[in-house]
Amino acid sequence: MSRPAFPATAADYQALARARLPGFLCDYIDGGASDEQTLRANVEDWHGVSLRQRVLVDVGKVDTRATLAGQPCALPLALAPVGLAGLMAQRGEVQAARAAQALGVPFTLSTVGICPLDEVQAATSVPCWFQLYMLRDRGIVRALLEKAWASGCRTLVFTVDLPLPGMRHRDTRHGLNAGGLRPALVRARQALARPGWLWSVALGGRPLTFGNLSAQVPNVRDLDAFKHWVDSQFDPSVTWADIEWLRGLWPGTLMLKGVLGIEDARQALHVGAQALVVSNHGGRQLDGVASTARKLPEIVQAVGAEIEVLVDGGVRSGTDLFRALALGARGVLIGRPWVWALAGAGEAGLRALIASWQRELLLAMTLAGVTRVADIDSSHLDRVAQCATP
Ligand code: FNR
Repeated sequence: MSRPAFPATAADYQALARARLPGFLCDYIDGGASDEQTLRANVEDWHGVSLRQRVLVDVGKVDTRATLAGQPCALPLALAPVGLAGLMAQRGEVQAARAAQALGVPFTLSTVGICPLDEVQAATSVPCWFQLYMLRDRGIVRALLEKAWASGCRTLVFTVDLPLPGMRHRDTRHGLNAGGLRPALVRARQALARPGWLWSVALGGRPLTFGNLSAQVPNVRDLDAFKHWVDSQFDPSVTWADIEWLRGLWPGTLMLKGVLGIEDARQALHVGAQALVVSNHGGRQLDGVASTARKLPEIVQAVGAEIEVLVDGGVRSGTDLFRALALGARGVLIGRPWVWALAGAGEAGLRALIASWQRELLLAMTLAGVTRVADIDSSHLDRVAQCATP
């Protein structure tokens, strides 16, 4: 991967991130589950969606603004929750939240972020969205929700596709799932090869703990022990009844993230969620499931009139964002691209990436002859592609 002096695309930022981060962190971000088929399909299947060019339409005023979960946005895009983002840049979640606010898009803080909610909220005037994993200890879940509400969060992103963490072989190869001295030495060697990261993040970005959970965990300083505790807290026995419990506790917008089929989308509606994210966790959970580009249209058709349907997975440009809207999504979330931009070029890099996607979306709208986000629909798809869409 060559390192561009003036990055233009998500892949350019990925190359910059690779040059700055230790190898095990690059693979933690980039990797997917098992053979990574779904990871690849997520990206490739957007490319299979052909767009329809229109000419001589009045596109003098094109507006990319939209509303996501009741929040006005400069474009229909939000930063997805990414665990451990504070290992990728100094106080990474704070920098990302500031960049998101500057560009007018929501930032979602992961349960397993490095920076705690208070720190992120203090750095911005627009409250972030908060992502929740159900933990075995429901007392902790209740406390997290109370804290999120008190801090001003009004959108809860509840992730439903992680009853257990997926098989991520890249992480295994770096010894991330094994304790002991040897994996620690392997990672220390990789870290020493990145002195800039060591100085700025490993030293300058402390404390490197799961900020939202640090009060609950016995051995806060040991990140390996911490990760072990978090993994043991994932609760595979969660059902729709628990969502009803959650619904009762959360007065704000409830968004379910990780729905990939019509039946589950209907259930989401039934339990009172106002929004859902068509997602396969960026290809990090069940390898072999269909890409989100493939599943999106049928889910929109089934429930799109009654619930806000967002999508994530493999969106790599403003043009992909346009494709998602044309397939019926109200907006998209992005994961890896924002982390690459932040890790590779800091807060300014992330601002530049979002601004570039906004320009690209505006350009796509202009060339497709549509001036408002709400008017983007399947009429902007090429007819041949429409037939090919399942
Ligand atoms: C994630 N994702 C994720 N999702 C979530 O609900 N909570 C989390 O803590 C994380 N952590 C996480 C870490 C990393 C390194 C990645 C790449 C992803 C999934 C994420 O929110 C989103 O669904 C995908 O990243 C979307 O796919 P793309 O945009 O990365 O292709």
